[in-house]
Amino acid sequence: MSHAEDNEGTRRDFLYVATAATGAVATGAAVWPLVDQMNPSADVLAVSSIEVPVGDVEVGTQLTVKWRGKPVFIRRRTKKEIEEGRAVKLSDLVDPNAENENHPGAKATDQNRTLDKEGEWLVMIGICTHLGCVPLGNNAGDYDGWFCPCHGSHYDTAGRIRKGPAPRNLEIPVNKFVDATTIKLG
Ligand code: FES
Repeated sequence: MSHAEDNEGTRRDFLYVATAATGAVATGAAVWPLVDQMNPSADVLAVSSIEVPVGDVEVGTQLTVKWRGKPVFIRRRTKKEIEEGRAVKLSDLVDPNAENENHPGAKATDQNRTLDKEGEWLVMIGICTHLGCVPLGNNAGDYDGWFCPCHGSHYDTAGRIRKGPAPRNLEIPVNKFVDATTIKLG
């Protein structure tokens, strides 16, 4: 995807193009191009917040959008995933911090990681905290969450690092519901 394409698109077009590009990365080498992280182009920086329609996201599936040059996972968790996430003791966690920009300094309970009280929606930057690969989702890895194949980091159903070299939980950006079916990032 060229940046020229970004410039020409409406917001809807941007989301479509960005999602397609992210999919291509996820099925390819799983390495997010470093240049995208280090040198976000002017047009990417300009899209400082976006609204993502999530009405079509079914339980047990994940939407990936590109935002500020990074993939963002928006997962609608199943009851089982919520229960698994909530059953974990804080003392079992590698990173005790929620790493959630919406709750700075909060403990990494499942409840402090999700967008809604019920725990159905989980929004995270889809970049492994080890060296920046894009983890695989849909109940991957030993903890039913995400797995980074680059060096074997396992994240649980709340995106918390449980095993492998990654030092921190997957980061949660500022996000909120602006209406029943729309999540705003940033
Ligand atoms: S980049 Fe994910 S485990 Fe190394």
